[in-house]
Amino acid sequence: MKKLTVLSIVAASLLLVGCGDSATGAEAKAASEHKTESTMKCGEGKCGASMKKEATEAKEAVESKATEAKEAVTEAVKKTKEAVAEKVEAATEKATAAVDAAKESASSAVDSAKAAAASVAGAATAAVAAATGPDGKAIFAKCAGCHGADGKTSALGKSEIIAGQAEADLEKKITEYKAGTRNTKGMGALMKGQVAGLSDADIKAVATYISGL
Ligand code: HEC
Repeated sequence: MKKLTVLSIVAASLLLVGCGDSATGAEAKAASEHKTESTMKCGEGKCGASMKKEATEAKEAVESKATEAKEAVTEAVKKTKEAVAEKVEAATEKATAAVDAAKESASSAVDSAKAAAASVAGAATAAVAAATGPDGKAIFAKCAGCHGADGKTSALGKSEIIAGQAEADLEKKITEYKAGTRNTKGMGALMKGQVAGLSDADIKAVATYISGL
């Protein structure tokens, strides 16, 4: 048994040494091949000036590619600029159209406002006209001397009491006195003189006032 163990160790050692030798041999072989390749390249005329020429050509190729790329970029930038300019132009047109539309609607709003203001002014004028129309009470002031301030006096002891009579009746009677066609107490001419200067509107206004007395 002991003898066998020693033999095993010896065998193992031999094996290890063999492997070591084998590895070193492979490395050496590879190195030698590499060297041969280098030598062969130089041998084919690729050393020195030739290799320099190759390098110069490569450099020129790179430079020409760079120039091409630069030109392509310049072209792309130019195209982009043009596209942007077009977009800006279109946007400007749209904005202008929008401004025009806004102006138009603003101007139509102003027109509406003007029309509304004019209509308000018209209504105000009409209201003022109505307010400043014939004033029945003012007209009656000159009648009050004979008919009484309250319209309940018989004028010159002759006329009927006019206060409270129907507006339409008063309007008709006064209009007839003005035309000279009414004379109930022989004093029609006198009454004609009192109402000759009244317009139809004045007659209507004073009739309304007397009716309300
Ligand atoms: C100077 C006095 C006098 C004055 C001022 C006068 N009247 Fe008369 N009025 C008379 C007399 C008089 C009669 C009667 C006339 C007739 O013979 O029909 C009369 C009649 C009337 C009648 C008819 C009454 C009826 O029912 O028959 C009316 C209406 C009337 N007067 C309205 C007026 C008004 C309106 C005024 C003012 C704008 C006025 N008078 C001013 C004297 C006057």
